[in-house]
Amino acid sequence: MTDYALIIKQIQAFAEVSADCIALMANVSALLYHTLKEVNWAGFYLVKNNALLLGPFQGNIACVRIEKGKGVCGTAWAEDAVQAVDDVHTFAGHIACDSASRSEIVLPLHRAGEVVAVLDIDSPVPARFSAADVQGLSQAAQTIEQVIEWGAEQ
Ligand code: SME
Repeated sequence: MTDYALIIKQIQAFAEVSADCIALMANVSALLYHTLKEVNWAGFYLVKNNALLLGPFQGNIACVRIEKGKGVCGTAWAEDAVQAVDDVHTFAGHIACDSASRSEIVLPLHRAGEVVAVLDIDSPVPARFSAADVQGLSQAAQTIEQVIEWGAEQ
């Protein structure tokens, strides 16, 4: 079981040093990538010029730009809803960045009620993300929203 309470404390500790959007996202990516088991990509996309642009991440090189409503990330943005996909091969429009990815979770991040970024985590294991992961990561996303200093573009 992942200790999400500890992850949340670590995110708060990062923000005490600097809550700068890029610095915080970079360290949260590293934290999630190295803490969560069976994960091959963890990172952020930020809304810029009406698309999602690749932000800080850990893992293989990834697609740089995702349109609203496209892929799992663009769907999380368009629907403003967490997407937990047990098998990416059955998700219509899934954007395959790393062919090893089998399951994926994407959580929208808000500023003043608007989605301004998403947190994306991929796993090589089907159905990697349980209800407990959805809950824990949703709390982590909420913590990020509470502490982050967004850039001028967000
Ligand atoms: N699979 C995502 C694209 C981003 S990569 O997983 C890092 C999607 O369908 O939106």
